[in-house]
Amino acid sequence: MAASPRAFVLRHTRLRPVPGLEELRLHLADEVYALWHAVQVETNDPDAALPYWAFAWGGGLAIGRYLREHPEIVAGRRVFDLASGSGIGAIAAMRAGATEASGTDIDPFALAAIRLNARANACRVTVIGRDVLDEPPPEANVILAGDCWYDAELARRVLPWLQRARDRGIEVLVGDPGRAHLPVDDLMELAAFEVRTTSELEDLHRTEARVYGLR
Ligand SMILES: C[S@@+](CC[C@H](N)C(=O)[O-])C[C@H]1O[C@@H](n2cnc3c(N)ncnc32)[C@H](O)[C@@H]1O
Repeated sequence: MAASPRAFVLRHTRLRPVPGLEELRLHLADEVYALWHAVQVETNDPDAALPYWAFAWGGGLAIGRYLREHPEIVAGRRVFDLASGSGIGAIAAMRAGATEASGTDIDPFALAAIRLNARANACRVTVIGRDVLDEPPPEANVILAGDCWYDAELARRVLPWLQRARDRGIEVLVGDPGRAHLPVDDLMELAAFEVRTTSELEDLHRTEARVYGLR
């Protein structure tokens, strides 16, 4: 692990407006593979995770746009942003009037990025650095799940956890650009947005991303 994930994030990103959500600013990178290599060197781990935290993904962008149009979903409520990455969901929720927001991620660089990005947007976000998917649902009114279906193993665990949360009365919003493992039969579409992601990992820089509730 890097001596300081915070210093690493600052060294490899630039604070800039988010495409389509220009009122938010995030520490973002330009080139995923060069940064991934830097992470591997920094951590001395060839299997280090991709630096998801340095990009705004389609799911988070769609959720951010949806909350801008519908702030009442989070206004005055407690929000939990699962697989937060840069913290985009939690930050968008706070900007839309949430009373508190948590961002959870398993990547230590993401935790540093969430803190830096929350501060850059003058909002307070509680950072949770553990895998919560085997735990009971959190004390929250709304859970945001942006771009969680890119990986088969994560996908297998996320939907049952979200369904348990929904069954306990927590409102769930999913954002996704149509990843391979998205369980569309269990979702109901609420909105679609053309989004411009900040990573060239995407086949297309402009893509459609949707926001869903759980059926
Ligand atoms: C594609 S990124 C999405 C980030 C953000 N939600 C967005 O839409 O921009 C997926 C994130 O999930 C995180 N992640 C993977 N497995 C996780 C788990 N079990 N619990 C929490 N976060 C996880 C990764 O570290 C990564 O930051």
